[in-house]
Amino acid sequence: MKTLTVSLPGRSYQILISRGLLAKAGEYCRKALPRAGRLFVVTDTNVAPLYLERTADSLTAAGFQVSRHIIPAGEPSKCAAQLAGLWEAMMAARLTRTDAVVALGGGVVGDLAGFAAATILRGVDFVQIPTTLLSQVDSSVGGKVAIDLEAGKNLAGAFWQPRLVLMDPEVLDTLPDATFADGMAEVVKYGCIKDGTFFDFLAQRPERAALMADIEHILYTCCNIKRIVVERDERDTGERMLLNFGHTLGHAYELAGHYQTWTHGQAVAAGMVRAAGLGERLGVTPAGTAERIAGMLAALGLPTAIPCTGAEYAAAVGLDKKGAGDQITLIVLEELGHAVPWRMEKAALLEELA
Ligand code: GLY
Repeated sequence: MKTLTVSLPGRSYQILISRGLLAKAGEYCRKALPRAGRLFVVTDTNVAPLYLERTADSLTAAGFQVSRHIIPAGEPSKCAAQLAGLWEAMMAARLTRTDAVVALGGGVVGDLAGFAAATILRGVDFVQIPTTLLSQVDSSVGGKVAIDLEAGKNLAGAFWQPRLVLMDPEVLDTLPDATFADGMAEVVKYGCIKDGTFFDFLAQRPERAALMADIEHILYTCCNIKRIVVERDERDTGERMLLNFGHTLGHAYELAGHYQTWTHGQAVAAGMVRAAGLGERLGVTPAGTAERIAGMLAALGLPTAIPCTGAEYAAAVGLDKKGAGDQITLIVLEELGHAVPWRMEKAALLEELA
């Protein structure tokens, strides 16, 4: 078992990484939630047939009463209507302030269930059991929970740290290749922004089987980087922005594809290559960096460039929440393994991208 502790004032919690952990979820939830009687488990239509009963059995065996709530799989479920449905279902299940919510699924389930936990009864405890690579290395750690609005993604949300994060790498075996690759975009990002040695480690493992052979180390390394960044900047006012490497331009690609053509990971992959190329043009990033990143992403089956018009870039830059006024903070690489914020005029950025 690999263990990390995210140390935040009054809200410290453990991340546990171990094969077969799902079947022991009850034991670890009992330790983290000694007062809870009921656990309200939220999952989706993809995950429920695979892992809900195994998880619920373990929770029941540990003495919890278990409520189950299954949402349709997919981003459209991260909406106000599903949130309201969750609130009502939680009250119908007689959830109390000493009980807790369990998010069993990917980023959509974690964000929606986490936001419901943050708001129901003015906040109850919650546990993240992420079942995709993307949610294991990113969204389940750090306490950002949200739903999407018509105006954009993740616009209504909270910082609400989980009490516990349980990661069972075995659940990744049932992911389609494309979904695994999607998560790998964020894994590569950690190497780019904070750990050149980890980038080299990944470069030697271009295939899923080789990555899975070392998956505990990979999950640990990514979560440890995120832990350090979140401990220094929980509220995303400084260093946490580094986690957005590739995301500003990725946002443009997601917009360009109307959130249908490209997944988040695919958009971030192309965004990282473009941001590295831009860094090279600005004289910040060593020549050849974009090519190295592109080589790794292509081997993983991820796109390294996505068509995007100036208007689509402009829309993304204008809306990007990191932007303030005429300037934007882009994340660029001083070298592979070291990212820095780079303030620039939005107009100058759009000119560079044209
Ligand atoms: N996914 C970026 C963050 O958690 O800050």
